[in-house]
Amino acid sequence: MLNGKKLLITAGPTWEAIDPVRGITNLSSGKMGYAIAQRAFALGAEVKLVSGSVCLSPPVGIETIQVLSAQDMYEAVHRQLETLDIDVFIGVAAVADYRPANVHTQKIKKSSNKVTLELIRNPDIISSVAQMESGRPYTVAFAAETQNLQANAFKKLVNKKLDMVIANDVSKLSSGFGTDQNQVLMITHEQTIDSGMQDKTKLADTILRHIAKHL
Ligand code: PMT
Repeated sequence: MLNGKKLLITAGPTWEAIDPVRGITNLSSGKMGYAIAQRAFALGAEVKLVSGSVCLSPPVGIETIQVLSAQDMYEAVHRQLETLDIDVFIGVAAVADYRPANVHTQKIKKSSNKVTLELIRNPDIISSVAQMESGRPYTVAFAAETQNLQANAFKKLVNKKLDMVIANDVSKLSSGFGTDQNQVLMITHEQTIDSGMQDKTKLADTILRHIAKHL
């Protein structure tokens, strides 16, 4: 079904260093992104995976580029887009919106009672892909929401100029971060489809079949 198509997928968390041993990250396990990469490969696609630090083994047959920070992920994604004619980009990674303004070169010592961390904005990877002037791939973003799932995800579809948003409610213990199952809304400008709760591998298949209809 995806024969001859080239897919670029991001997965996992980013790590924004504070000092050599501390950083800001999140609870993404990489399971959802790796499942999408594996199923896309099984459905005939050529797949490149850009992954934050996770405990999963790189999927067999898929070139996996390991990164740490959002800036690293941004650069790795754009290097792939420059060298390959990517048909579909799927942003599954949980990318930090902000990073510490200054990274301490030595471990911060416990001295005062209060420490203030100044944060600055990271580049928005998916927006930069969606707004490419030439060679723009069909661009799909996962959206992690804790309230007003459909409305907030639809705003991301419009504001980030995306083709599709895959919205999941990450306030539930049974789905979203770290779980084996997930439930999503697949949102385009024309329609919204509820996947129902599924194992992440089966859900990956559902999502890819839905994307394939739009190519
Ligand atoms: O890895 P798992 O444990 O299996 O969990 C899966 C998941 C919950 C991480 C996944 O299903 C999910 O929701 N991924 C998106 C998480 C997220 O960052 O959502 P967001 O709504 O904050 O961001 C929307 C989109 O913008 C995402 O595609 C994100 O990759 C992208 N983004 C965000 C910030 C940024 N600086 N650059 C980006 O590209």
